[in-house]
Amino acid sequence: MRNVDFLVIGSGIAGLSFALKAAKHGKVLIVTKSNEDESNTKYAQGGVAVVVDNKEDSFEKHINDTLIAGDGLCDKNIVEIVVTEGPDRISEIIEYGAKFDKDKTGFYDLAKEGGHSEHRVLHYKDITGFEIERSLLEEIHQNPNIEILTHYFAVDLITQHHTGEFVNRHSDNIECYGIYALNTADNTIEKITSKITVLAAGGAGHIYSSTTNPTIATGDGIAMAYRAKAKVRNMEFIQFHPTALYNPGEYPSFLISEAVRGFGGVLKRRNGDEFMYEYDERGSLAPRDIVARAIDAEMKKSGDDFVYLDIRHRKKEDLLSHFPNIYAKCLSIGIDMTKDMIPVTPACHYMCGGVLVDEFGRSSIKGLYACGEVTSTGLHGANRLASNSLLEALVYSHRIYLDAKDRLNEFNVPTHIPDWNDQNTQLSNEDILVTHNIREMQKMMSDYVGIVRSDFRLERAMRRLRLLYEETEEFYKRTKLSVKLCELRNLIQVSYIVIKSATERKESRGLHYTTDYPQHAKELKDTVL
Ligand code: FAD
Ligand code: SIN
Repeated sequence: MRNVDFLVIGSGIAGLSFALKAAKHGKVLIVTKSNEDESNTKYAQGGVAVVVDNKEDSFEKHINDTLIAGDGLCDKNIVEIVVTEGPDRISEIIEYGAKFDKDKTGFYDLAKEGGHSEHRVLHYKDITGFEIERSLLEEIHQNPNIEILTHYFAVDLITQHHTGEFVNRHSDNIECYGIYALNTADNTIEKITSKITVLAAGGAGHIYSSTTNPTIATGDGIAMAYRAKAKVRNMEFIQFHPTALYNPGEYPSFLISEAVRGFGGVLKRRNGDEFMYEYDERGSLAPRDIVARAIDAEMKKSGDDFVYLDIRHRKKEDLLSHFPNIYAKCLSIGIDMTKDMIPVTPACHYMCGGVLVDEFGRSSIKGLYACGEVTSTGLHGANRLASNSLLEALVYSHRIYLDAKDRLNEFNVPTHIPDWNDQNTQLSNEDILVTHNIREMQKMMSDYVGIVRSDFRLERAMRRLRLLYEETEEFYKRTKLSVKLCELRNLIQVSYIVIKSATERKESRGLHYTTDYPQHAKELKDTVL
């Protein structure tokens, strides 16, 4: 058993940037399920949207672009907070050593992405996330107050439920005391208690069979929080990135950054016709929900599994200096992006909803903060503006730190928290069934809860999911825990939340498009479960 001041679940940008600050005030323990750098953060390509050019750009423009992309559902106050506090947070990671590309004048080389009215995306080539993760981890390694436990899988948040006290889902007195975690080195479940817990466990791309997210993104954070009776909001808004590389058999999918379109890349049909202006006056750089839906419609018309992205008109040397990683990847499968059009297809990319938090990252559970992709702060509304996610994580990790450091002594951990009980469970000799159920669930979500939805499809999805849920719960109760089994359980839980939230929204807005209600409803409303 371990007991710490600050427990952080996840080692992406949200968890690491919080840990670095919290370590000034107490012992920090980071628990992470894979290698320390494995995270969605590591794969971020395009960059961080932030106003650093005060001549052409302004806070007002960035705020406005975010609100437009969010299709009416952003919280304007939160948008203002994130946009205006962003530059200070970026300065901090530059101080930690994160590098961003500069142009010939020595000023930042700002990229443009879909939905942005200005060039404002700071980037390091096309591997911005890798560079940020590297710089944060280097700082972490030098800090004696921070310990990282890798290959530890957080199974459940500890609340009064575990001490035998019944607390109603609607109570505002639920408290978090830490986690039970599976140490995968020896397959034991450890109890880790903490005064303050920060959930920074990222997204859930793997509820679908095609995603840009690395394999860690199985929605564990959302599922854990929901089981602990935290409020979750707007989970129907799942962002499909329009341009994942079409490369059958590759899983997860490789992303072709939106920055390629910001650099002049144009979406085309097989015959070379540009099609996006038939859908939106902003063409290939319209917000993601619109571009992904247009591509989906084009693929349905043509019967093809992809459309093309054409960037052949830009100079080879420029493409190589801006997109070395994308160039190399394409070339490895026989596509020379300086000469060939790139086949692309939408893939699940980002979870816009999540654990409901206030402007200091406080969830509805006492002692539990949440940060990064796992949250619903109000920034993204019904559709996230490209490259706003890394920024949100930096701004919120700072705000959580400001709040949590003064509240350390408000939270006490009870002495009678039991150890994990796995009596009457047995080792599984049928792990393949878990794998089959994951695949079945992902296919079902892709078939019925994808870019275009309907009541009929959602009802069918829920019926199919119920069967998988029942089978999995029964298996879970009698089996010793494994990471795969926990992930399946979490994926099912998150899929349930997505389907239920989608069913409750009787309109089309942002990323949620349903053929039964193709228009906006008159009233703006959040879906809170
Ligand atoms: P993550 O970085 O995903 O970190 C989550 C951490 O939690 C991981 O360390 C994971 O291992 C750990 N974890 C999860 N479950 C458990 C568990 N049960 N127990 C213990 N640990 C657990 N956004 C932008 O703003 N700009 C971009 O250019 C951009 N490009 C992207 C490109 C790709 C390919 C992808 C996939 C995403 C991109 N995004 C981008 C989105 C952005 O990268 C993420 O939203 C952001 O990095 C999330 O950070 P995070 O710290 O919240 O989560
Ligand atoms: C990209 O590079 O296209 C991803 C940017 C993002 O998801 O914000």
